[in-house]
Amino acid sequence: MSIHIPRGTQDILPGTSELWQFVERKAQDICRRYNYKEIRTPIFEHTELFQRGVGDTTDIVQKETYTFTDRGDRSLTLRPEGTASVTRAFVENKLYGNPGQPTKLYYIGPMFRYERPQSGRMRQFVQFGIEALGSNDPGIDAEVMALAMEFYRELGLTGLKLVINSLGDTESRIAHREALINHFKPRINEFCSDCQQRLEKNPLRILDCKKDRDHELMATAPSILDYLNEESVSYFEKVKQHLDTMGISYVVDQTLVRGLDYYNHTAFEIMIEGEGFGAITTLCGGGRYNGLVENIGGPETPGIGFALSIERLLMALKATNIVIPIEQSIDCYIVALGDTAKDKAASLLFELRRAGLSCEKDYLDKKVKAQFKAADRLEAKYTAVIGEDELVANKINVKKMSTGEQVEVSLDEFITYMQDTLKEE
Ligand code: HAM
Repeated sequence: MSIHIPRGTQDILPGTSELWQFVERKAQDICRRYNYKEIRTPIFEHTELFQRGVGDTTDIVQKETYTFTDRGDRSLTLRPEGTASVTRAFVENKLYGNPGQPTKLYYIGPMFRYERPQSGRMRQFVQFGIEALGSNDPGIDAEVMALAMEFYRELGLTGLKLVINSLGDTESRIAHREALINHFKPRINEFCSDCQQRLEKNPLRILDCKKDRDHELMATAPSILDYLNEESVSYFEKVKQHLDTMGISYVVDQTLVRGLDYYNHTAFEIMIEGEGFGAITTLCGGGRYNGLVENIGGPETPGIGFALSIERLLMALKATNIVIPIEQSIDCYIVALGDTAKDKAASLLFELRRAGLSCEKDYLDKKVKAQFKAADRLEAKYTAVIGEDELVANKINVKKMSTGEQVEVSLDEFITYMQDTLKEE
């Protein structure tokens, strides 16, 4: 029996991997402009990090982690998201002590969640995320949202909706929590068993329940916005002002609660509207997490960030018919006839590559006609033909494929000739 790929994962093959490289380069480039530096953390961490960081009452930690015991009897978990790991690295490497705060970091890497696979929902997916640690300035909340929106805009995506909410500070959250418990408690037996457990542990999560979303108490549930204290209201106002100044439009949705426990103050998601996109409409999510660094054992440090998956981004680009330009062609294919010419072709190929050109030759002992066909398939801009006669004359025949134009070039000048000709194009 043959072995298949695990459910919820995918092979990214040549032809598609170029799309990934393209969007990853775009992510790196926008991070360079916004001054976020790359961080790479391990794929697995101690399970406790996510229990403490993401929160052990969340679906992610309760139902979706890939957790295993290693040969040293430690409980390890494949990371389901990047924020907890970045925070751990921030604390462990004492990045808070560096000059030049806030610490602004980005990452691109695989995350793992045991979810029911469907289009746009994978068990292994790649997140591009950023985290800004050490600033309580509402301007940085706006910067984080702006970076995400600009990233999509530069890729050509339209129909995006930035949805924001404030979850308030600890005081506001406690007041809201009490109100939620009072609201749901009398009729909690009408809710699913998960919600019944959530009532005391984390009532905010009830609002995010997919099973009970149509229950009449959902629509009348107390809104966090009515429980924000003065400081939280003023913070949220300033974040909105910064977005207004940048001309970034948004809608406030008081029902937006995120699926992870660490958030307070600003929470946001970026959705895509329009047909052809299927069930998954959230492309990106993020928010402020003051308190997480302390929770992981570091000094009191505010933080904010977002993450988006490349899978959903590529789906959105496809659904909206945005074609990513991919350079498939090679510079030169060397066609060789006869054994001595083939040896020469091999050394020329090596030199061309050393000089920075992308090039190829035959390795299957193909006839000349088939070698030309291979050159066509690779969309070679030039073919260079070398046989015994050319060898004796110390020449090589270079053909420009787009025009059919041919020139004989001295073998000694071939490499510089190809470099110069391609530069002129
Ligand atoms: P999240 O909302 O759990 O937040 O995930 C962020 C994004 O990751 C989603 O909007 C979606 O694009 C993508 N994503 C999540 N699960 C899947 C999946 N199963 N398949 C494909 N894509 C998926 C976080 O992960 C937070 N760490 C974001 C953050 C960073 N908050 C502050 N800093």
